[in-house]
Amino acid sequence: MEQDLKRKTVATVLAEGTDAVGKKVDVKGWVRTRRGNKNVQFVALNDGSTINNLQIVFDLSKFSDDQLKPITTGSSIHVQGELVASQGQGQSVEVQAEELEIYGTAPSDYPLQKKGHTLEFLREKAHLRPRTNTFGAVLRIRHALAYAIHKFFNDKGFVYFHTPLITASDCEGAGAQFQVTTLPLNNLPTDKDGNVDYSEDFFGKLASLTVSGQLEGELGATALGLIYTFGPTFRAENSNTPRHLSEFWMVEPEMAFYEIADNMDLAEEFIKYCISYALENCKDDIQFLNDHFDKELIDRLNFVINNDFVRLPYTEGVKILEESGKKFEFPVYWGVDLASEHERYLVEEHFKKPVILTDYPKEIKAFYMKLNDDGKTVRAMDVLFPKIGEIIGGSQREESYEKLSKRIEELGLTGMDWYMDTRKYGTVPHSGFGLGFERLVLFVTGMQNIRDVIPFPRYPKNCEY
Ligand code: 4AD
Ligand code: MG
Repeated sequence: MEQDLKRKTVATVLAEGTDAVGKKVDVKGWVRTRRGNKNVQFVALNDGSTINNLQIVFDLSKFSDDQLKPITTGSSIHVQGELVASQGQGQSVEVQAEELEIYGTAPSDYPLQKKGHTLEFLREKAHLRPRTNTFGAVLRIRHALAYAIHKFFNDKGFVYFHTPLITASDCEGAGAQFQVTTLPLNNLPTDKDGNVDYSEDFFGKLASLTVSGQLEGELGATALGLIYTFGPTFRAENSNTPRHLSEFWMVEPEMAFYEIADNMDLAEEFIKYCISYALENCKDDIQFLNDHFDKELIDRLNFVINNDFVRLPYTEGVKILEESGKKFEFPVYWGVDLASEHERYLVEEHFKKPVILTDYPKEIKAFYMKLNDDGKTVRAMDVLFPKIGEIIGGSQREESYEKLSKRIEELGLTGMDWYMDTRKYGTVPHSGFGLGFERLVLFVTGMQNIRDVIPFPRYPKNCEY
């Protein structure tokens, strides 16, 4: 091996393309396939930098059979050689191998031998699936979207505000939290009434993993003006659906002085920005997913960025559903928490566009949402997307100390004094929303199951790795 030849990624070599023909290159990666005949062997090399493989050509007058034998699917190699224009189809350049080093072999029980494993099979092998074309593409897109999110908010002057993952509050009031404790579960300390004595626990009180960073985010927004959070959230709902995870990432911007219309404008601009960013920066990966999984993917992405979202009050949405004549599995009437089938009817069949549904009945929404003058509905907004259903949930927040205290009392919530201080001292109108990051990745990749857009999915009865 030539020592001072610097390694290049496959993405770089392919991007330089024919401009670099005649130069010597140094590449490292994993073997996808090897094929050929007695005279020449072709290896498809992938290093994760791109969905595309680099073809390495081994001339059997320079390499012996024994030297090439360990190069099987899944093995890892280091190659130096001359970059040449490719004779074959499917690539413009290839490497004529001169030096070979084998880092690691992959015995014949390597699970990813063949192309075209089912996604279900790959879910069982989630520790290796990032090595497949499909998951490589999904994970690069996931990265690009995460970067786009930070870029969008940074460019608008938002502060990335870190909210706690371990918390003593329950933001959504849904009671679906994972408890965090160091108490001995088979010998719990109890108080005089026989209840668990949390004063003995690690934090001296009942603590849980967060379901949302919003309440703490509001503390940030009422000091810094514009903030966003972006981190993991945890929900212990027993939801075994293709759209729910027990651990998922959420993006939660919170804006002082924003009313509900400003909130909707921001949500629409934000989501369109992220999709455009992926379309521009992940072309090969999105094309691959379009070709192999979802022929309408690119059209759907372009459609969403090129059309205004419909904005519609919940009450009108329910009327459309009632008058649709459609047989839904779950009944629909004013006051009901809409099911995914209802949301998707509005988006996919009625409007054929993303819909922002607003002004929901207060009973089915969280305590912090601003009450409308009708006394019945709150300034909520859910952004509903084709194939996904709800992708964003948000609202204008109740800024009146009196109204909010009343609501907290009605619902019997306790321990909210710190939160109420935002309304007690210098309260302002403010709004925010939460985007389910995996639901965005699901939409942009066209995958069908949310378990396939996060490296290590957590869902009921599953916590591998
Ligand atoms: O609608 P949600 O529950 O809203 C909140 O948590 C608010 N505190 C947000 C805010 O206003 N700052 O959740 C927000 C989004 C949903 O629209 C959905 O996209 C996603 O989070 N989400 C989930 N994604 C995956 N798995 C789950 N179990 C999810 N639950 C919610
Ligand atoms: Mg919601």
